[in-house]
Amino acid sequence: MSTIKHVAIIMDGNGRWAQSRAHTRVWGHIRGSSIVSDIVEEADDLGLKALTLYAFSTENWSRPFNEVTTLFSLLKKFLLKEKERIIKNRIRFRVIGDYSNLPEGTQSIITELEDLTKDFKGLKLTFAFGYGGRNEIVHAVNQYIQANPGQKIDEAQLGERLFAPEAGDVDLLIRTGGDQRISNFLLWQCAYAELYFSETKWPEFNRSEFRSILETCANRERRFGNVKAIASLDETSKVAQTNKKKFGLGRV
Ligand code: FPP
Repeated sequence: MSTIKHVAIIMDGNGRWAQSRAHTRVWGHIRGSSIVSDIVEEADDLGLKALTLYAFSTENWSRPFNEVTTLFSLLKKFLLKEKERIIKNRIRFRVIGDYSNLPEGTQSIITELEDLTKDFKGLKLTFAFGYGGRNEIVHAVNQYIQANPGQKIDEAQLGERLFAPEAGDVDLLIRTGGDQRISNFLLWQCAYAELYFSETKWPEFNRSEFRSILETCANRERRFGNVKAIASLDETSKVAQTNKKKFGLGRV
């Protein structure tokens, strides 16, 4: 069985793809958004447990106004178009990040869909919108400090306070568009993620490349700091705790 359960994608390259065809960057986002449904469907067909897509970062607020508003409206369009399919396929939908600047109508569509799907046990589909990984960690720590003044926070307590803790650690992070950076995406969750950088610009990404990346990465040996291939971070943590007890070390 593949150890890849949670895939995160940085859907990069829309602007360059459009500009290289003498179109506006906005056109690249429109074309890019049309690929998203295919990839969600493929993730579901392949039996992935979670898919997290980077649709708008905290840094993206500095983009030209029409680009920002286009991204807002593409999110809304996607949700209206896919709502029935998300419900039919029992997909649990979430948006992580600060989307309080989105038009109120879009915010209501998001909260309504989150609410409708919160008990679904299918694919956990998360859009990161107005999202930054550092911001998420700071938010988690502040929430803890407020509830537990003067206490130290540990990894489990921080993990529980992330925006979508149920999605868990990322097993594979894919970035399209040729750049090799993480760009403030899921910093905590990607601690042990396999990384895959594709030269393909997002509007040309497709199901078959997605499937082939998953096949390639499923064959990589994941050791999580251990000396042998191991199935999960949980498993390696258990062995580490047992060893620490044997060595007389406390909880680290
Ligand atoms: C990066 O491309 C991509 C984004 C900032 C947004 C990604 C958004 C989509 C794929 C469309 C939104 C769809 C939905 C359903 C919300 P870039 O503009 O940074 O490309 P560049 O690196 O070539 O400039």
